[in-house]
Amino acid sequence: MDDEKRFTGSISDEYDLIRLVMPHFDELQSLVAQSVTDYPYSEPKPIKVLDLGCGSGRTAEAVLTARQDVQLIALDNEEKMLRQAETRLQPFIQRGRCQLVLADALRYLEQQPENTLEIVASALTLHNMTQSYRADLHAQILRVLKAGGLFVNADKYAPQDDSERFEYLGVALNRFFDVFVPLGKFHQLREWVLHNVADQSPDHVMKEQDIITALHQLGFVNIQINHRRNLEALLVAHKPRKPPS
Ligand SMILES: C[S@@+](CC[C@H](N)C(=O)[O-])C[C@H]1O[C@@H](n2cnc3c(N)ncnc32)[C@H](O)[C@@H]1O
Repeated sequence: MDDEKRFTGSISDEYDLIRLVMPHFDELQSLVAQSVTDYPYSEPKPIKVLDLGCGSGRTAEAVLTARQDVQLIALDNEEKMLRQAETRLQPFIQRGRCQLVLADALRYLEQQPENTLEIVASALTLHNMTQSYRADLHAQILRVLKAGGLFVNADKYAPQDDSERFEYLGVALNRFFDVFVPLGKFHQLREWVLHNVADQSPDHVMKEQDIITALHQLGFVNIQINHRRNLEALLVAHKPRKPPS
């Protein structure tokens, strides 16, 4: 079943205001791009990268700019967001390096053959998913990656400790007020606040140690979560080079 769509409202109209709220937003995109750059690859064919939840295209843009041999599919289930990505990614689309796909992430992955992608990259998308949907998505990511492939995601990998988690949530909510009240954008403020609170609900929350354990149980290796910036951090995980015997 498709997941709920959480970007249909007014927050997607001016999504890029999030950069004012999250001072480390651009850094998160750069960290994803750097992981892609560091991926060891010397074949003459392009590296196939899938960007899950491309939004307005900032993650895809960072990845495509960082590495010239990347061929990227930018996927989103929200038409309004994909249109913004289309504008931002136009130079790459014209050069045949980027393709846009309007689809639910899990449904799309389920239809892909196994062992076909070098990298699945994402930013600030998987925390929007429900626990069971995300678990299925992780399994599909592992299936479609080639042996040795990389899963990289800059996202809300909250600290395991709830006091620390809610302290960071308070910092984040404060910033929404600091940015949106002077702009008089109260409708968007309300949506973002409710959205951020719901992100921390038991149905959605991604706690770092829970995710590491879940990915390990699925069969990912070399899993790390680092570069913490408040609630956000960078996850890297790999598909084993050889299937375990
Ligand atoms: C917060 S934006 C992040 C966009 C971009 N990666 C960035 O960092 O700016 C999350 C995007 O994921 C998309 N999304 C959320 N759940 C999805 C799903 N199940 N399938 C496809 N796209 C999804 C939303 O529509 C939204 O555009």
